[in-house]
Amino acid sequence: MKIFIDSANIDEIKEAISWGIVDGVTTNPSLIKKAVEYFKNQGISFTMEEYIEKLLKVAGKGRWVSLEVIGNTEDDMLGEAETLFAKFNNISNNVIIKIPVNPEIEENGTKHFDGLKVIKKLKEKNIPVNCTLIMSSNQALLAAKAGAKYVSPFAGRIDDFLRKKIGMTFEKEDYYPEEGLVIDEKVLNDDGIVSGVDLVASIKEILDNFNFDTEIIAASVRNARQVRELAEVGVHIATIPFSVIKDMVKHPKTFEGMINFMKDTIPEYREIFK
Ligand code: E4P
Repeated sequence: MKIFIDSANIDEIKEAISWGIVDGVTTNPSLIKKAVEYFKNQGISFTMEEYIEKLLKVAGKGRWVSLEVIGNTEDDMLGEAETLFAKFNNISNNVIIKIPVNPEIEENGTKHFDGLKVIKKLKEKNIPVNCTLIMSSNQALLAAKAGAKYVSPFAGRIDDFLRKKIGMTFEKEDYYPEEGLVIDEKVLNDDGIVSGVDLVASIKEILDNFNFDTEIIAASVRNARQVRELAEVGVHIATIPFSVIKDMVKHPKTFEGMINFMKDTIPEYREIFK
């Protein structure tokens, strides 16, 4: 499984890349806001262009960096995608454009359903797309048919959605069972999907059934156990926040073992390294 880091924070991205485990980066407007605030609080100033250029260089060639459009209409999304690609892809040749599958925003009485049209047009222009905000298997199927290189199901947000249905309170990082929650003898579900991991597994099955080239980026990942379950269902890629990547390395018995080995090291053995 490939691991992308779900962050726009250059410090985090650099650190995770230095561990040798990062195959790509995903950003969105909220992650960019968070990263820019982090640097501004340290008195570091830059233009958005400078910041993105640096981010793309830090990620480097061969590691995709997803940059998201902000519009909702076909014209806006297409124009923004072309702008992002033209401005930034020449830096490290690693830009992929994030297009929401189906922004159903109502403007002047018109509802727009333009995500798929934009994906098709970008495919024709050889601009790679990561189709984002995927919340159902059908959306993923349509995005793959329209020509998305990647589809990003939001596993964590599906778990949130299911929990909120029953008014459950929870912390963002809380584990949600892959097999779903049983309430009044029925498994809580969204049109048959019982958890975020189940959504990813369903999309994987559908894409495999028809040999699509489209790969899945499991997004909105909330904890290390969810990453393990995503790996078990064979997802191609998981995009993971740095805090969760760090949790993946931890185990109390590993820590205890290190402390004991340190305590037990005899001076004669230590001498070898002097
Ligand atoms: C990445 O592609 C997504 O934008 C991101 O994983 C969303 O995560 P969130 O649901 O934690 O905001």
